[in-house]
Amino acid sequence: MAHQSELIATDIEAYLRAHEKKSLLRFITCGSVDDGKSTLIGRLLYESKMVFDDQLQTLESDSRRVGTRGGELDFALLVDGLAAEREQGITIDVAYRFFSTERRKFIVADTPGHEQYTRNMVTGASTADLAVILIDARKGVLTQTRRHSFLVSLLGIRRVVLAVNKMDLVGYQRATFDAIVTAYREFAARLDFSDITAIPLSAVHGDNIIVPGGNTPWYTGPTLMQFLETVSVDDNLAARPLRMPVQWVNRPNADFRGFAGPVVSGRIARGERIRVLPSGRESEVARIVLGTRDLDSAVAGQSVTVTLTSEVDVSRGDVLVAAADPPQVASQFEATLVWMQDEPMLQGRTYLMKAGSSTLSATITPLKHRINVNTLEQVPAEKLELNDIGVCELELDRPIAFEPYRDSRAMGGFILVDRLSNATVGAGMLNFALRRSQNVHWQALDVDRQVRSRQKGQKACVLWLTGLSGAGKSTIANRVEKLLTAQGRHTYLLDGDNVRHGLNKDLGFTAQDRVENIRRVAEVSRLMVDAGLIVLVSFISPFRSERRMARELFAAGEFFEVFVDTPLAEAERRDVKGLYRKARRGELKNFTGIDSPYEAPEQAEIHIDTTHMDADAAAARIVQYLQELRLIPQG
Ligand code: ADX
Repeated sequence: MAHQSELIATDIEAYLRAHEKKSLLRFITCGSVDDGKSTLIGRLLYESKMVFDDQLQTLESDSRRVGTRGGELDFALLVDGLAAEREQGITIDVAYRFFSTERRKFIVADTPGHEQYTRNMVTGASTADLAVILIDARKGVLTQTRRHSFLVSLLGIRRVVLAVNKMDLVGYQRATFDAIVTAYREFAARLDFSDITAIPLSAVHGDNIIVPGGNTPWYTGPTLMQFLETVSVDDNLAARPLRMPVQWVNRPNADFRGFAGPVVSGRIARGERIRVLPSGRESEVARIVLGTRDLDSAVAGQSVTVTLTSEVDVSRGDVLVAAADPPQVASQFEATLVWMQDEPMLQGRTYLMKAGSSTLSATITPLKHRINVNTLEQVPAEKLELNDIGVCELELDRPIAFEPYRDSRAMGGFILVDRLSNATVGAGMLNFALRRSQNVHWQALDVDRQVRSRQKGQKACVLWLTGLSGAGKSTIANRVEKLLTAQGRHTYLLDGDNVRHGLNKDLGFTAQDRVENIRRVAEVSRLMVDAGLIVLVSFISPFRSERRMARELFAAGEFFEVFVDTPLAEAERRDVKGLYRKARRGELKNFTGIDSPYEAPEQAEIHIDTTHMDADAAAARIVQYLQELRLIPQG
């Protein structure tokens, strides 16, 4: 490496010490290669001497060979070369580069600028303190500039450098620069920036990058590097109220019970009164431990282990907060979502949500609108596709402590994860809690499900029959119900065709409507189990995700999935309702098995192969299963 500091060779310890004390600025660069982004980053890296000797040699020879600068160093080649190196094997491709100067350390996130890379930009921006938005002086403020600025603002970046590049190509004219800055400020007034610093640049010639350029005598502000080295990155997190999400409970022996996690804002001190959320219980801080040392206090940015003076229940996902200044607790929110997966986001579907250190179930109910990221217009929408951004309502399976994302990234940011594949499908920001969740309470009733079940001499449960259309679900469910009724049991059969005539008559067969169809039926079957009934559900219910959601509404031993397994060819051969023929003729769209998927269960409690078992045998088998589990008396 070209020595960045003489100290590396002479006194490595001193170098490392000096390095450790420097503050760190994380920033993101937005713009496209055409704007001169690569050249700009290349120059910052080169000037800070964070370029390896071999890279420098390659750069010199490449510049002579393919460079566009007539033998001078072409910095764009340097960055593009690094990028190509890093692009291999990463799906969300954000290149993070590190460099440092005498005054500060920097991590720059460099993401591609096109719309199809929105998710990459979101990933890069979510941890940045500042954004450098590049503009080509010849082109001014473009749609792309507006889109990048909107995303940056959405992700909570409040400081922006408007880097007006290629000033050499407009004769370093002040009027051109001023017009661009005025246009940008006018647009940015709709965004959430606290300060915008505009700098006229020529990345190619180096004007105002490191040292002031002689070509812009009318510009008296800082150079880009001066600004990056001195801009304040202190969000004053330490001055805000205490928030400490508990990542794990540390219990090495019976005498020590510590709660470990990062202090994301405020400070925590010995003797301080804290509240545990969401439970609301209070206690006092007994000890604060960092490694083997005891501290009197810890501030935002530190991760510590805390013990309390009294025995209170605290687990992973809880948040320790200042008792005098707690955040809100809620389970229903308005949130802004960035969709990051090829498969679209569906209203009504339940995803896993990771917020802070808690993992929850979150259902999208409903999507309010999509945002056109180029114009900032709200567009009515029912789903979000890859890279779309929308505003939705979210319903969680339990309350969490939170703050709006714009106040706290740590307490208001979250990701959504696919419950089956575990892939990150979206990133989001909590905007505010919906009032309705705070005003609707669960009514405690004296006659509960146990009383109702006992009265009926059975244990209430759901038998959830899934399978293709024409697989035989309804026939089997009908016979099971007859057998149970004959034995004096209390049942109810929810059948797809019937429910779709009433409760769900507003729903069709798009993926989204099926998600909603199953969500409602799952909720209805839960009420019926609460009423003490043995509920038979006979719906195609083609998606694993919704069947899993239904299962999670029930306690263990209350939900049994029955796979009525009839191969497509066989269901189509039987074609009792003539629907397969219609679908094959193209007269029926989105037909399960033809042009809409069926995801077979992986672990159904009961598997019925209808090619080897008739409906009576299948029904007897299901009844026997209930008897074996003692949900109903032996026949
Ligand atoms: S589900 O997929 O949303 O669970 P559901 O069980 O309610 O479906 O309804 C399936 C029934 O609707 C089928 O048995 C069939 O009679 C009828 N039907 C009409 N159009 C379709 C279609 N496009 N796909 C599947 N079933 C359809």
